[in-house]
Order: sequence, then C-alpha cells, then structure tokens
Amino acid sequence: MRRISKLFMSSVMLAGATLVAVGVQAQGGGAASATAMKSPVPPTPASITAGAAAYKKYCAFCHGPQATGNGPLAPEGSNPPDLTDATWSHGSTDGEIHAVIVKGVGEGSAMVPFEGKLPDQDIWHIINFLRSIGPKGAPR
Ligand code: HEC
Repeated sequence: MRRISKLFMSSVMLAGATLVAVGVQAQGGGAASATAMKSPVPPTPASITAGAAAYKKYCAFCHGPQATGNGPLAPEGSNPPDLTDATWSHGSTDGEIHAVIVKGVGEGSAMVPFEGKLPDQDIWHIINFLRSIGPKGAPR
C-alpha cells in the first residue's frame, strides 16, 4: 500500500514538472520555434574544422579543451557542463543549443549570450563540431 502511494506521488510530481516545463516554454515564446529550428549549415568537414577553431577561441576556457566541462579558467563555482555527453539541461536539438549560445541561460549565469560577439555561421559551425565529438546517433 505504502509503495503504491509513493509511486503515485512521484508520477504526480512528474506530471507537475512537465507542466512547469511546458509553461516555461510557452512563456519564452521563442522556445518552441527554437526546438524545431534546423541548422542552415551542413556538418561538412570544413564546418567542423571551423567550429573546432571557434570553440577553442570562445568556449574552451570554460567548457574545457575537449568540451568535457569545467575548463581551466571557468569562473569559480560555475561548473560549465560537459558538451560531449547526451545530457542537455537546456534542450538537445540543434535549435535549442543554438538558442542557448545566442541568448545565454539567463541573468547571473556564466553562460552569457554570444549574440553579436560571434557570427551566427560560427555558432552553427560550433554545434557541428560538438556533434562530431558527441554521442553518435543522438536525437536532435
Ligand atoms: C565564462 C564561462 C563560459 C563560456 C565562455 C562559455 N560557457 Fe557555455 N556554459 C557555461 C556555464 C556555467 C553553463 C551552465 C549554465 C547553466 O546551466 O546554468 C553553460 C552552458 C552551456 C550550454 C548548455 C548545456 C546544456 O547542458 O544544456 C551550452 C550548449 C553551452 N554552454 C555552449 C557554449 C559554447 C558553444 C560556448 C562558446 C561559444 C560557451 N558555452 C562559452 C559557461 C560558459
């Protein structure tokens, strides 16, 4: 009996979390379209090479030289995540990752918006590079 109610509670909580997530997306306005946004830059070897160079210049000091997180010069306590695993706390599609890089993750985060600092083309190159070193066959 106890076990059943615990299970029931966790599914209620899960449903709640889903609702919150949907609410945040709706509020963001752009989030739904970010999910569906397709990369305009095909993952050619040239794009991946350009992405690796841009990554090294703009992202490596925080996300690490191999993009596995916690780079050498990351602000203390910021814990930049691994960008090569299958975990994406802010969305896993190309469009969502693009949106995080363009807009950052919000006030006070070390993950600042790169809008205007990095040509859009380079952002897509970086995503192609990250995909090339990430898990194969990961959903986008
Ligand atoms: C000053 C340090 C810093 C720099 C520079 C930086 N990031 Fe981040 N990044 C972070 C931190 C910290 C987070 C975690 C934010 C959070 O979840 O609150 C993050 C999160 C992310 C995420 C979301 C990961 C997820 O799990 O959803 C992506 C994608 C990302 N960064 C890509 C980049 C790219 C690409 C660059 C270079 C153009 C870059 N970052 C530069 C600190 C940095």
